[in-house]
This record gives sequence, structure tokens and C-alpha cells, in this order.
Amino acid sequence: MLIGIPRESKPGETLVAATAKTATQLTKLGYDVIVESGAGDAADQSDAMFLDAGVRVGTVMEVWAADVVVKVNAPSEEEVRRLRQGATIVSMMAPARSPQLLERLQAQGVIALAMDAVPRISRAQSMDVLSSMANVAGYRAVVEAAHEFGRMFTGQVTAAGKVPPARVFVVGAGVAGLAAIGAASAMGAVVRGFDVRPEVAEQVESMGAHFVKVDFEAEVSTDGYAREMTAEQEAATAAMYDEEARQADIVITTALVPGRAAPQLITAETIAGMGKGSVIVDMAAANGGNAAMTQPDERIVTDNGVTILGYTDLASRLAAQTSQLYGTNVVNLLKLMTPEQDGQLTIDVDDVVQRSITVVREGELTWPPPAVNVSAAPAATTAAKNGSVKEEKPPISAGRRLGLVALAAAALFGLIALSPQGLQGHLVVFALAIVIGYYVIGNVHHALHTPLMSVTNAISGIIVVGALIQIGEGSTPITVLAAIATLLASINIFGGFAVTRRMLGMFSRS
Ligand code: NAI
Repeated sequence: MLIGIPRESKPGETLVAATAKTATQLTKLGYDVIVESGAGDAADQSDAMFLDAGVRVGTVMEVWAADVVVKVNAPSEEEVRRLRQGATIVSMMAPARSPQLLERLQAQGVIALAMDAVPRISRAQSMDVLSSMANVAGYRAVVEAAHEFGRMFTGQVTAAGKVPPARVFVVGAGVAGLAAIGAASAMGAVVRGFDVRPEVAEQVESMGAHFVKVDFEAEVSTDGYAREMTAEQEAATAAMYDEEARQADIVITTALVPGRAAPQLITAETIAGMGKGSVIVDMAAANGGNAAMTQPDERIVTDNGVTILGYTDLASRLAAQTSQLYGTNVVNLLKLMTPEQDGQLTIDVDDVVQRSITVVREGELTWPPPAVNVSAAPAATTAAKNGSVKEEKPPISAGRRLGLVALAAAALFGLIALSPQGLQGHLVVFALAIVIGYYVIGNVHHALHTPLMSVTNAISGIIVVGALIQIGEGSTPITVLAAIATLLASINIFGGFAVTRRMLGMFSRS
């Protein structure tokens, strides 16, 4: 089959659906590839690079006559008419918001695969163009904010005085929000983040931000996306948004509920209360915006000196890299849909990913697909479903804890007093070891428990020493038991070091 890569017709678009590198990967799947002349110019992918990569460069008509046309943005009315009957079009289509486009594609008798309808399941991550783009866009949002902001992000103490760090507030901790948090923290800002999905608190903190907590009934998401807020949730969060935004130098908003207009979270009153020189980057601008005064694709400066950026092309502002990521997502999708690597695209409707992206097939509308349930929730946070997101574990009262300790101490003293003299010393050492072990392990962060335990496994070397002393006793049962003990303890020791080595390897740059 022939894959055509046209030049994007959307005004100002810099992206291209394949780079020289990804076009080569498509040929390895058995496809012939033709790229429209000049399609990759704005993404630093010249015609010469495509020709060097062994793919054809042709005219617009040749490209649109291909069996499979792959592009970034949804096809325009004219482009749909160019598709021949039975051809396949692959692009982002926002199918939930584009019923007319789907009707046109249906009438044209083509197969339409929406790249932006890939479900958020682990297996499909390598094909998820929305995540690729939001990741780049989140980073770029911070760069745009830094460019507008009149100060450095990082705090410094210099001979000429103290410079405070910039304070950044990120709303929505999906892909774009987490990328923005990572970029802003790396630049030295003090970052605070909030999301209605309680399960992302840990991710926000692992990216270097403080998760802002609000007392409200929050539901753990089952598909990686948020639901619309209830009136009570809105009331509970409104005051927080106002307070956080007023204190922030930079606000980056990314809140999105799929299939809905962006929730308006930063009011005109809040913006009026923000400091002169503050910046809002409203990433949801294309969807209506999360801030009151956002205008899509515009830079606005309010009367009180707040700059509001509503750019909707943040990912396109890093065209070469975004095109490479988009192209790789396409290659991964076509790998799935070309199981024989023979250049023949097949659709397996029993596969949840392929079914989800197929929006029109053989003149039939196949959108919306059956719902895909993915548990995005870590088990521990399900408790948040039932109550306040602040509360994670039911605390044991101090009195109860003291009582338990006193009881354990009394039992131990009783045991020592009643035990034979030779055993008493051992019991004291054992009790002290429990106390010390409890406090040592208890003060180590959960994430470090595995490396800690794998190293402390080496302590079982003492078993090997004991077993080796016993092994030559002359009694067969003792020899057998000592041999088994040596074997098991050795597995424990070497296994522990092997796990430690593997974990350390994860931190090595090479
Ligand atoms: P996502 O779905 O991964 O993340 C959105 C997050 O917003 C979710 O975590 C959700 O729980 C949260 N959210 C929903 N309602 C909220 C509320 N009321 N308060 C706080 N959080 C709330 O989406 P992704 O991929 O991160 O994209 C975020 C936004 O960025 C979208 O609007 C998307 O269209 C936009 N975007 C903009 C680009 C640009 O150039 N301006 C480029 C790429 C994406």
C-alpha cells in the first residue's frame, strides 16, 4: 500500500505527520511512502532528507491519491473530497466535536482513523498523540511564561541582594500540567499544582511541586480523565483558585474534561487581584479557556499588567520535535495494524485500540466506540472516594499506641523473667533489635524499602556462618538442614545484591 504524507493546510501549521526517520520506519513495515514536496520544511525536514531516506517526494494530487493518507490536523472539506473511495485517512479529528466531518468522511466512503481517540491504556501509550503533544506543549508553556515574566525563575542569594524564586501555580495535572510542573521546577521556581483527580497528588509531588489540597468529595478516575465538577466541588475549589492565583507570579492552566468546554476557573476578579507582571498561560484556550479573559491565539495585557497567553499552537512551536513524536506515534499504530509487516493495513475490531480509533468504516459511522475502562487509580487512594482527600490513613490515637507499647513491654518482661538463664540475654537482644528495626525502617521512605531490604538481606550471612559451623557435626539430619540453610541464605544474599544492582542501574545515565 502507498502512504501519502500531505503538507498541512491549516494556516500557520508547522508540523508534518512523518519525518525522514519515521518515513523510513514506515517503509520497513512494507509500505511505499510519498511525501508532498515542501510538507516538512517548517519542521526542518527538507525534501532532500526524505529522498535520502529512500521515500518519494511528489505533488499534492499524487499524495492524496494514496491508499492511506496520514496527516496531523483533521482534513478540510476540500481534502476529504480528494480522498478516493476505500482509502484510509489517519489524522487527529476531535470526533466528539466534529459530527459534520464524520458525516463527510462517511459520504466519501473512506475509512477514518482518529489519532486523538487512542484510549488511555498502558499498551496504547506509544500511540497516544495527545500525550505527545501535551507533553511538548506543557514544556513550551513554561518557556513562553518565562519569556514574558520579567524575573528569573530561580531564587538566588547574591552579593547584590536576595532574589526570590518565582511562584508558579499549575491547574490540572494531566500530561500537559505535569510537563509544565517538571519544566518550572527544573528552572528553579517554587511550584504548586492542583487537580480534581486525587490520585495524581503523588505524581505532582514526584515532579517537584506541592499538591494543593482542598476538602471536597473527589472521585478517583477510571479512564485517566476527569468528570465535570459538581456544584459543591466548584464552590470548594473557587476560593482556593482565587487565593493561589493571587499569590502566584505565573499561572498555567490545563484543566480539561473530555467532550466539554474548558471549565472557567480563574475569574476576572481573581485576575484583577493578581500582581503587575504576572503571567497566565491558558493552555485550554482552544476549548474556551480556563481563565476569564483568554482569547485563543492572542496575547493580552490587562489593565493591572497581567499578561494572558492563549496560544493554541504551543506544540507546533517546537515543530521538529513534535513532528518526530507524532510520526513515531503513527509508526507504532501502523505496526499494530500491519501484523505481517507486508505493507497491508488491516483493522482488527476486536482490538480495543483499533476499535477506539476507527470512527468511520466502509460508509458506516463507528463513533463513539464502546467505553474503555482503565483503572488510573492507585489502590491506596481509593479511600479518598469516601471522604476528604486530605485523610489517607485512619490515625491511631496516642493513648492507644502508648497502651499497646506498655502491654508489649510487660509481656516481654514476663517472658524474660520466666525463661531459662541462657535464653534471657538472647531475648533482650531480640527485643532491642525489634525496637531499633522498627524505628530505622519506619523512618525510611516507602520508595526506598526495596533497596534497603535487598541490602539488609546480606545480614542473613550469619545463617551461613552458623550452618557451616554445624555442617561437620557428623549427624546426617544436621548436615542436611545446614546445607539447606546455607543454600537458602545464599539465595537471599545474592538475590538481594542482584536486586540492588538492578535498581542502581535504573539511575545510571548510560
Ligand atoms: P489531560 O486530560 O491529560 O489533563 C487535564 C487535567 O485537567 C486532568 O488531569 C483533569 O483531571 C484536570 N481537570 C479537569 N477539570 C479540572 C478542574 N476543574 N480543576 C483542576 N483540574 C481539572 O489533558 P492534557 O493532555 O494534559 O491537556 C491539557 C490541556 O492542554 C487541554 O485543554 C489540551 O487541549 C491543551 N493543550 C493545549 C495545547 C496548546 O498548544 N495550547 C497543546 C496540547 C494540549
